[in-house]
Amino acid sequence: MKYADIQWGDGQPYSPGYGDIYYSSAGGREESEYVFLQQNELTSRWCRLGAGEHFVIAETGFGTGLNFVLTMQAWAEKIDTGQVGPEACLHYFGIEKHPVSPADIARVAGNWPELSASFDELLAVYPLPVEGEHCRALLGGRVQLHLIFADIIDALEPRALQVDAWYLDGFGPDKNADLWSDQVFQLIEKNSGQGTTLSTYTAAGFVRRGLQAAGFTVIKVKGHGKKREMITAVLDHKKITQSPTPWYELEQSRYQNRQAVIIGAGLAGLTTAWSLVQRGWQVTLIEKHRNVAEEASGNPAGLLMPRLSIDNKTDARFYASALLYASHCLDDLQKQSDEKFWFHDGVYSIFKAGKAEKLIEKQGYAEAFMEILHQHELKNSIADPNATLSFFPAAGWASPRGLCENLLRVCGGSLQLIQQNVVDIQQQQHQWQALDENRQDIASAEVMIIANGVGANQFEPVSWLPLSSVRGQITAIPANESSSALNKALSFDAYVTPEYKGVHYAGATYRVGDDSPQLTQAEQDET
Ligand SMILES: Cc1cc2nc3c(=O)[nH]c(=O)nc-3n(C[C@H](O)[C@H](O)[C@H](O)COP(=O)(O)OP(=O)(O)OC[C@H]3O[C@@H](n4cnc5c(N)ncnc54)[C@H](O)[C@@H]3O)c2cc1C
Ligand SMILES: C[S@@+](CC[C@H](N)C(=O)[O-])C[C@H]1O[C@@H](n2cnc3c(N)ncnc32)[C@H](O)[C@@H]1O
Repeated sequence: MKYADIQWGDGQPYSPGYGDIYYSSAGGREESEYVFLQQNELTSRWCRLGAGEHFVIAETGFGTGLNFVLTMQAWAEKIDTGQVGPEACLHYFGIEKHPVSPADIARVAGNWPELSASFDELLAVYPLPVEGEHCRALLGGRVQLHLIFADIIDALEPRALQVDAWYLDGFGPDKNADLWSDQVFQLIEKNSGQGTTLSTYTAAGFVRRGLQAAGFTVIKVKGHGKKREMITAVLDHKKITQSPTPWYELEQSRYQNRQAVIIGAGLAGLTTAWSLVQRGWQVTLIEKHRNVAEEASGNPAGLLMPRLSIDNKTDARFYASALLYASHCLDDLQKQSDEKFWFHDGVYSIFKAGKAEKLIEKQGYAEAFMEILHQHELKNSIADPNATLSFFPAAGWASPRGLCENLLRVCGGSLQLIQQNVVDIQQQQHQWQALDENRQDIASAEVMIIANGVGANQFEPVSWLPLSSVRGQITAIPANESSSALNKALSFDAYVTPEYKGVHYAGATYRVGDDSPQLTQAEQDET
């Protein structure tokens, strides 16, 4: 995936590929506000939102983010003036096949200094051009941006969203036919609910007819400025059907009191706790050791790298966007801490002959995500002359223990840590209870999260979980003059981190089905 090719003329972005402009050159901001925000009657609809409810907007053609930024500003105003319910959340799905580069977005932002703070907020979370869905929280979590970098059909076909308002903002229908096809209109209907509205700047006859055929009631209204007409539409009737992909649904929270018990204070338990705390939950975290990160997450170093797949597109997309999300979160957490635990320096990776090239060809990775280093001094140290050296800028290495300690800190007073061994769990009257060896209740809540690693299936209600252990160990190696030249982590079948405080970490061994926690000399020698 590549950034969009954009030409600039009179301070306006133009797409030579589509032969069209991104937004109206005569009052782009005013036209966007008129066509999308006003015609979907957003502000009055938002005022009806109750506590914790959400409102979903989807846009076909996210482009420069202008519509998004205007929407976020309007939403922020409603929050500031107390006109939307507490904790109400705006979900914004921006679908884009050719992501606009951050540099071009920054140039657009320059046209509207009054929007620059919001554009900066967007740019601070804006992902690399990697296919897939990228979720980012803005405005302290009151806006959830779901950037879907994909063709419109790929983006909408698997989903069954309940969008409240659509912005149809492709390039002109005569120039961008694939965004205005009957199939797209049917997918828009599939991702809508009763009462969903949409608006678009065009009044083209085939767009009107396509939307009507998909089930929308279409109304022509006055266009912006000198434009005669535009379209709004509403879905009056919606057949309720079971979603074939319920995991894409944005359920309103069923839990009124937002309290959870989590068992296990490793990476899984603490990242989940942090995620809940950011959403206003109170968490009780139960850990059998005195400190957090005493088991698998107790390593001093671990690599953050995407799992790569040549043939499996779904897998590759998921792990690529997961890497970007994780490194974005770690950047954010690192900024809040004086203790260094995250080293976002990129990772070198060595591949057997031909594999790196195939990955790039099959998955279409942008150079900003995966780059082949044809000329690099490290290449001289690789034993296999046919191997390829590549570089993943978004990757890095972290101290899992440092990360866990930091997560505990940022959860603050919203998290209570209890040192206890949970022996079993049970549910009574909609409350899950964590029990000690006397079957006494340690803590209970409507929601319980089991994050105690392979210990999970010792609890009777989940004893059916098919879990098995994988043991491994890493080795600390004192740095020397030549090893200190390695300035970023290097991965091959194993990995080695750059020198930090005089030490490299190398690993990891991997023994499936082995649960012994002792360090062994044999595995040390293997590393
Ligand atoms: C040697 C090695 C190298 C690795 N390298 C990497 C790497 O480079 N990159 C990477 O991404 N991953 C790596 N991993 C994997 C990664 O470390 C683990 O996937 C991760 O730490 C698992 O976290 P967790 O929270 O699920 O488990 P844990 O960290 O094991 O946390 C579970 C917690 O639950 C607690 N607990 C268990 N039972 C109970 C109970 N009954 N009551 C209360 N508390 C309980 C435990 O004490 C523990 O603190 C590596 C793992 C190892 C072992
Ligand atoms: C008019 S621009 C959108 C302007 C944008 N709403 C803004 O605020 O800047 C149209 C956008 O649709 C995108 N697009 C075109 N065809 C697409 C497709 N098939 N799937 C997804 N996006 C597409 C283009 O890359 C372009 O960014």
